Amino acid sequence: HKKVEKICCLGAGYVGGPTCAVIAARNPHVQVTIVDLNALRIAAWNSDDLPIYEPGLDEVVKSCRGRNLFFSTDVDKAIIEADLIFVSVNTPTKTQGMGAGFAADLGYVESATRHIAKVAQGDKIVVEKSTVPCRTAQSMRFILEANARPGIHFDILSNPEFLAEGTAIADLMNPDRVLIGSLNTEAGRSAAASLVDIYAGWIKREQIITTNLWSSELTKLAANAMLAQRISSINALSAICEATGADVDEVSYACGLDTRIGPKFLKASVGFGGSCFQKDILNLVYLSESLHLPEVAAYWKQVVEMNEYQKKRFVNRIISCLFNTLTGKKIAILGFAFKKDTGDTRESPAITLCKYLRAERANVAIYDPKVAESQIWMDLTEPGITDDLAKLQKQISIADSAYAACKGADAVVVCTEWDEFRNTRLDYRKVYEMMNKPAFIFDGRLILDQKELESIGFHVEMIGRPRGNFETSMQWE
Ligand code: NAD
Ligand code: UDX
Repeated sequence: HKKVEKICCLGAGYVGGPTCAVIAARNPHVQVTIVDLNALRIAAWNSDDLPIYEPGLDEVVKSCRGRNLFFSTDVDKAIIEADLIFVSVNTPTKTQGMGAGFAADLGYVESATRHIAKVAQGDKIVVEKSTVPCRTAQSMRFILEANARPGIHFDILSNPEFLAEGTAIADLMNPDRVLIGSLNTEAGRSAAASLVDIYAGWIKREQIITTNLWSSELTKLAANAMLAQRISSINALSAICEATGADVDEVSYACGLDTRIGPKFLKASVGFGGSCFQKDILNLVYLSESLHLPEVAAYWKQVVEMNEYQKKRFVNRIISCLFNTLTGKKIAILGFAFKKDTGDTRESPAITLCKYLRAERANVAIYDPKVAESQIWMDLTEPGITDDLAKLQKQISIADSAYAACKGADAVVVCTEWDEFRNTRLDYRKVYEMMNKPAFIFDGRLILDQKELESIGFHVEMIGRPRGNFETSMQWE
């Protein structure tokens, strides 16, 4: 099989950037060029202030940028030079037309594919890195073959990415597995072997799995659906805990000790967010429906519905604890990112929460250590949420510290599990002093020490633990 010397990646996003930076770092003899249509993004990748925040990313990029790693807007040149091309463009949920709200918008994948066909002057291995519906590789092949110059041969591989944000570099350096799907033909197997060689630069061979194309495409949707399903399962149980006096952390710990269940991904929360889970499950729902499998579709759809329910339930608890009215009350939102150690806010539960709190006419003060202020305004003014920035700014403010957000607040709501919100890091005595009384604190991430906060004087409400006044009514033993 062919030895890859030059790689190009279309799309310098959360996946393309870190993935190909690690490939370059671990394959010093391979030239890697990451291109994007967005010139601002490329300029940021070439600067000291990278466009995304990931622990360890700066070091990896700095170790090989300008040596064998390049960021460029010259898409044509990078395609022409490359032996292997990753397609790592965005595949958002369609917002209109057939399948709106469910199906993946494959417009960016198709235009990237057409771009490759148009400019390629020799044979290429084209790798789907984007998360796509099952059988997208077939459409890509069709488009490539219909538009290519005569005599040019394309091999298409599926190589889904399993990295999670916030731990992207660690996940890429030490993945559970790498999955490569190909056609079961000689050409297909040989293209797969070329890509295996790249990953073998730092990953053990036995962790590099090769399958057929459709299994590989489906595995990505399946893995995300199963991970999200675990969170919805524990969140569904958190509602039972709150109503009965069970403690969801104890339930999750005891269940997780069963080696068949395992301890990971069983942390109850205000709901899962991130760019992938909801999008990929809805994509799977749409796929099931188009295959005339309505029961299968309904099964997976419930994972997303449970997540919506969890966010709504949390807000209802805030409202009912605050004496059924939030009008004019100040609510401090600690954390706006969808999880800690990332500045990404896509599908963050905090966005939904702020929307609900606004509808209750609360005054909301938001603090997040990594999310840019402009990003928060953009998220809260998305069409369908609200489009009037001036009106929004009367109700919502952005604070530059947790203390500033909590000053004069009636309630503090932890939405993201940033370490700096833990009892050991934030001075909750100081927070208590500066709040209106009674001072409420709602922990949507189960990171706070309830007993200690109560001893300060807070009224504490935790996901998956009984209501503050519940314990006393339970002391019948
Ligand atoms: P992103 O929006 O951060 O980046 C995609 C980039 O592609 C954008 O910068 C865009 O300008 C660029 N682009 C679009 N069309 C292009 C074209 N024709 N040529 C060159 N560049 C083009 O998206 P992302 O988060 O990196 O996700 C990319 C894919 O990876 C998606 O399919 C996503 O589902 C999947 N994925 C994401 C994650 C994650 O954690 N974000 C994890 C696994 C898989
Ligand atoms: C996810 C997948 O983990 C990753 O494999 C895939 O490639 C992309 O999608 P990501 O969205 O970056 O990664 O983060 P992840 O750590 O999976 O968290 C997703 C959401 O679930 C976050 O909002 C997180 O806070 C929440 N979560 C996670 C919980 O509420 N409880 C848990 O136990 C774990």
